[in-house]
Amino acid sequence: MSGDRDVRAAGTSTPAARYVDDWWRRAVVYQIYPRSFADSDGDGTGDLPGIIDHLAHLGPDGLGVDAIWLSPIYPSPGRDIGYDVSDHAAIDPRFGTEADFDRLVREAHAMGIRVILDLVMNHTSDEHPWFQASRRREAPYTDWYIWRDPAGTDDHGRPMPPNNWVSWFGGPAWTHDPERGQFFHHTFLAEQPEPDWRVPGVEQAQWAMVRGWLERGVDGFRLDTFNVFLKHPDMPSNPRRRGSSAWTRQEHRYDIDQPDLPALVDRFRAVVDAFPGRMSVGELFVGTTEGAAALTADRHLVFDWELLTRPWSASAFRAAIRRRERAFGDERWPTVVLSNHDQPRHASRLADSVGAAGDARDAIAKAAAVLLLTLRGTPFLYYGEEIGMGDVDVPPAESIDAPAARVSPDFPWWDRSPCRTPMPWTGGEGGGFTTGRPWLRMGEDVAWRNVQAQTADAGSVLSCYRRLIAARHAVPSLQDGLLRLIDTADGGTLAWRRRGTGPDVVVAINFGAGMATFRPPRPPQGVAWHPVVGTHLDPADVAAPDHALHLRPYEGVVLEMRSTEMRST
Ligand code: NOJ
Repeated sequence: MSGDRDVRAAGTSTPAARYVDDWWRRAVVYQIYPRSFADSDGDGTGDLPGIIDHLAHLGPDGLGVDAIWLSPIYPSPGRDIGYDVSDHAAIDPRFGTEADFDRLVREAHAMGIRVILDLVMNHTSDEHPWFQASRRREAPYTDWYIWRDPAGTDDHGRPMPPNNWVSWFGGPAWTHDPERGQFFHHTFLAEQPEPDWRVPGVEQAQWAMVRGWLERGVDGFRLDTFNVFLKHPDMPSNPRRRGSSAWTRQEHRYDIDQPDLPALVDRFRAVVDAFPGRMSVGELFVGTTEGAAALTADRHLVFDWELLTRPWSASAFRAAIRRRERAFGDERWPTVVLSNHDQPRHASRLADSVGAAGDARDAIAKAAAVLLLTLRGTPFLYYGEEIGMGDVDVPPAESIDAPAARVSPDFPWWDRSPCRTPMPWTGGEGGGFTTGRPWLRMGEDVAWRNVQAQTADAGSVLSCYRRLIAARHAVPSLQDGLLRLIDTADGGTLAWRRRGTGPDVVVAINFGAGMATFRPPRPPQGVAWHPVVGTHLDPADVAAPDHALHLRPYEGVVLEMRSTEMRST
């Protein structure tokens, strides 16, 4: 494949990258929310030097991930906490300097960790120079945003929006700009106006920005809400339908998912492919799993949300996996995601879904890690999940999530602050995250749920993640194998088989709080199932005489087929 690149090429001499060909299919990716990862200067906000200081936690002697994805690090007025970008080609001084960024890329590469940036190309901040110039009708920016005349005036003489489109963040998707005398379009906040990708200058400018980052050595991009880039050129009103909110009462036929989007993604990939070995993953906005699969291309992954909304139940996850496998088929490569910066963290979400308390909560977090790291697809971890971090109860007065302040019956919203709280590194004041006052409050469990404590504990969630990631790197079928669900006699157990370039693998997870019995498929003569790794330090083994695994509560185990001779050694 054209994905051949060794990160050693980026100016370091340390043997680094674990994978070269199509590395993003085999890699484990770790999402960092930079504000909350590590603060190096005591201002309470995480920064790039803080990330550099903690690379060892992620590198081969730590968790062992292959890439980090940084949520936006560009200058931003912060209305949507970094997703309203005022300069896509620079580093926000709150995170450090341009030199800090280049050092991060260098030092990450030296450790074999690739760096993926979050590109927000669907919208800019209203403080972006392009928008400022566009609202003043200055060439060449005059038509760079989606500007439309009012549809008329209402009974009070106020200008009326050009169509019925609504914003995902509540209210109309149009704001009238008195300076220009027209409406501009925004799928999100009014402070996030949308460039018009149908204007050639816009596309050229976006690609120039993309090239700039590639030249600085970044290894790939997460594309924010990429299926919103194009709108129908005539911008008709969306058809109405039944729904419980302003957004769901429309069929979003004209404002997202336009038929010429795949061609735009191809043009983007052509720009990226000029730099071999760079990956991309698109964030699907409000789409289905089938929609994600349809937009997945040879070298462009797409997030689907199937696994992010399921309760902790074997049947729910079985249905989700079946749907994903049907939608993606064996040819397309999925991603595996249980948490991110927009959704409740899965450690608390899954445990709460079954009312689990005490030790059962971490036991579920470990079993969920088995799912995440052994399903077919590229796993994306969200910082903190490796220590079983859950949502933090952030009082509304302290929350920093603009849409949360606009909740109304027509705009139901969830506060995203609870899943964005700072990472606890140690048990002391500020959790080793900061010497100052954290920008968002930290969890009450910091004293014992922190990286330092869990590193020292072989039975911790962190140790479990480390074992699972190491096994994923060592077992080829976990990286590239096809997936087939296995019928289990016990409804509380979920199992599947992976068949790839190495020996076959079977994964079984007991979702229940009691013991469960699972019989893996009978292996042919001369081979047997061998437990490689699992939630427990002593994973369940296949026991004679009934060839069964007796799984403890919430136990997950990975079995590899090995010759019986090897097994007895
Ligand atoms: C998707 C991002 O994940 C989310 O955090 C953000 O609010 C929206 N895009 C709008 O920028």
